[in-house]
Amino acid sequence: MRVAGKTALVTGAAGGIGGATARCLAREGAGVILSDIDRDGCNAICEEIRSGGGVASVAIADVTREQDIRSLFSELESRPDALDILVAVAGGDVEPAADVEAIDYDRMSRNLDLNLKSCILCCREAVRLMKPKRYGRIVTMSSLVYRGSPGQFSYSAAKGGVFSFTRSLAMAVGRYNITVNALAPALVDVPVFERVLGTKRWEALAADAAARYPLQRIAAPDDVARAALFLASDDAAFITGQILEISGGARL
Ligand SMILES: NC(=O)c1ccc[n+]([C@@H]2O[C@H](COP(=O)([O-])OP(=O)(O)OC[C@H]3O[C@@H](n4cnc5c(N)ncnc54)[C@H](O)[C@@H]3O)[C@@H](O)[C@H]2O)c1
Repeated sequence: MRVAGKTALVTGAAGGIGGATARCLAREGAGVILSDIDRDGCNAICEEIRSGGGVASVAIADVTREQDIRSLFSELESRPDALDILVAVAGGDVEPAADVEAIDYDRMSRNLDLNLKSCILCCREAVRLMKPKRYGRIVTMSSLVYRGSPGQFSYSAAKGGVFSFTRSLAMAVGRYNITVNALAPALVDVPVFERVLGTKRWEALAADAAARYPLQRIAAPDDVARAALFLASDDAAFITGQILEISGGARL
């Protein structure tokens, strides 16, 4: 077991990637705290983990609200051994495929709040708990579009910001034995796409992406979860400030 006895917080845990990550960490021995705004989704995954013999609990928080983030982490503080691992997965593109002239102030702000500010604030609170222990593994969620993506202006800027912040934080907290690394997946097969786009559009999009990726398929949530597990484990103890592209070779 690669994270046995560790306590891990996963945000966005009711989602495709977050859920897979929570299950994966629990399988490898971590006690997992599932956080999201989707209570039912978290409860279902929590039950699944527990019925498989794992350790899991649910803590609801909206990561676009600073007060929610503060409360989430201060609740953790009261637990013995507080926090070893943070995987900050919550996010998503709420302003996709806009022409640059069509950038909408409110949706742009929402993208920055949901993807970038939430990451910075969760990491700030996690470091507060990890520093005294002289131990921490922080995994942030960027995206392959950190390299730039026409039509995803504010989202790619937010995910690029996540990478810059990850490096800055890695420089600042390495001396406390806290590592900080970012994940950068290409397209991942999560249910939200089919829900939002409909089956036909989603299948066309996924097939088009798969044809362009050298490995000829898009990612499964578990591909990302296993990369998160690696960075959260002591197999990656000497890796920090990195971005790990889980891309099937896309955009090499
Ligand atoms: N799916 C992809 O192709 C892909 C690729 C690269 C990066 N990502 C990133 O991976 C992460 C997870 O996305 P996913 O693909 O699993 O999508 P998803 O929609 O299944 O998961 C996102 C989760 O975040 C939660 N969430 C949304 N707003 C929140 C808030 N304000 N506070 C707390 N939780 C909130 C949602 O309820 C959901 O459970 C996101 O950061 C996304 O940007 C996804």
